[in-house]
Amino acid sequence: MRLKVLSVASEAAGLVKTGGLADVAGALPGALAAQGVEVTTFIPGYPAVLAKLGKAKAVHKWDALLGTRARLLAGKLGAQSLLVLDAPALFAREGGPYADAAGRDWEDNWHRFAAFARAAADIAGGAVKGRAFDLVHAHDWQAGMVPAYLKLAPLASSRPVPGVITIHNMAFQGYYPAEVFPQLGLPASAWTVDGVESYGGVGFLKAGMQLADAITTVSPTYAGEIRSVEFGMGLEGLILARSNRVHGILNGIDNAEWNPATDPHLAANYTAGKLAARAANKRALEHEFGLDRDDGPLFIVVSRLTWQKGMDVLAEVLDHLVGIGGRLAMLGSGDGEIEAAFVAAAARHPGRIGVRLGYDEGLSHRLQGGGDAILIPSRFEPCGLTQLYGLAYGCVPVVSRTGGLADTVIDANPAALAVGVATGIQMNAVSHGALAMAVSRAVDLYNRRGAWKRLQTNGMKADFSWAASGAAYGALYRQLIGDQG
Ligand code: ADP
Ligand code: GLC
Repeated sequence: MRLKVLSVASEAAGLVKTGGLADVAGALPGALAAQGVEVTTFIPGYPAVLAKLGKAKAVHKWDALLGTRARLLAGKLGAQSLLVLDAPALFAREGGPYADAAGRDWEDNWHRFAAFARAAADIAGGAVKGRAFDLVHAHDWQAGMVPAYLKLAPLASSRPVPGVITIHNMAFQGYYPAEVFPQLGLPASAWTVDGVESYGGVGFLKAGMQLADAITTVSPTYAGEIRSVEFGMGLEGLILARSNRVHGILNGIDNAEWNPATDPHLAANYTAGKLAARAANKRALEHEFGLDRDDGPLFIVVSRLTWQKGMDVLAEVLDHLVGIGGRLAMLGSGDGEIEAAFVAAAARHPGRIGVRLGYDEGLSHRLQGGGDAILIPSRFEPCGLTQLYGLAYGCVPVVSRTGGLADTVIDANPAALAVGVATGIQMNAVSHGALAMAVSRAVDLYNRRGAWKRLQTNGMKADFSWAASGAAYGALYRQLIGDQG
């Protein structure tokens, strides 16, 4: 049987992106089509989304969606079916999806994403004529209230629809003070620990985890880690209580977007069999970042500059990296202090360290296509996509052993090197010493050209497409709606 699934996400590649959630929400529909699952993506109507949507049909309207007027627009992005919530009072503003241009979270985020979730629950429950869904898949805290509305405040006409929630990052929970509860349009009985209450406030992610029929997260290792206090961030008890409903399904990568043989952003395209062609990309990066031209290893970073990503520790290891012959080309933005530390390191090491603060999709591809190794010293990493792009591009990942990084990179230890299966370098818990050692190991291996080339080609040949994970989501959906066919 063909299934119809409503995927509810606050970002999607091609429309609006701040991180990996967008890559996943953008790629899942294609991955699931092969499983006989038709996905419609539901997304807020930020100005950028409305602009990309162009002419779209209004298929539903709300006079008071949690107190605000809204329309539902239907459109397409390539082959993808989209539903967009056009609610100007909530989404028609300049800035990011969650914060203003200065990086301050919008004060009414609770209202914006509760209304988004309320609308999703209405749509999934069948409120829009001619559009029925068999299942709703909510992503992260921004869609966390969808299962809560479906279970605790369904429309009178609503059909029961199973719900899945995917945790892309337990660190972002959408936690708001108790005062917002009366404005959420939920019955008083929802204010309990079995409902949306969480540590005396309202927890959007918690509500989703509590009320969804299945909880997934984006790697098997992270699914285990979030059972602990360190990674569960207050919700470990809920994960343990519902552990028979928790699944770890690894993210894949979109091979059409991320393929070095066809990538239009690269100066030179290449394959595992034609690695020499990468040199032109490396030269182009040296030029673009004002780096010395030499044959030593060129490390790259493409990242949010945050504590999660261990970028504060990396900033402290840069003198060592340069001291042993490395160079760094960095693209990222985030915490002001970390940005400043990288800028200062670039000033100390002209020609050796180049820094681009900001967000640049094309440059992120060029870095993977020309860098020798990508540094990802995350303190925690639910899945991580940049190591997967690195593997696909022959840009060897140097990562911490956590979450999806642990699941996707094979450390170049003596045993793995001996049998020729290594794909990168892993370090234990992020510290100055561990990261400095990992960088030294990378430089040593880089200088053993045969071994390095083997790392590159092993990674490039590994399959991180969506095929297996798309099948896993498809099987989970069918199990939840009781359809084995
Ligand atoms: P997270 O979602 O935690 O930030 P992921 O590794 O899952 O981490 O996904 C990050 C995504 O955002 C990748 O597609 C990466 O290439 C992209 N990205 C991160 N920082 C930048 C940047 N400054 N410019 C362009 N792309 C970026
Ligand atoms: C989050 C996580 C990242 C993951 C991404 C997509 O942003 O931090 O590890 O890859 O979501 O699932």
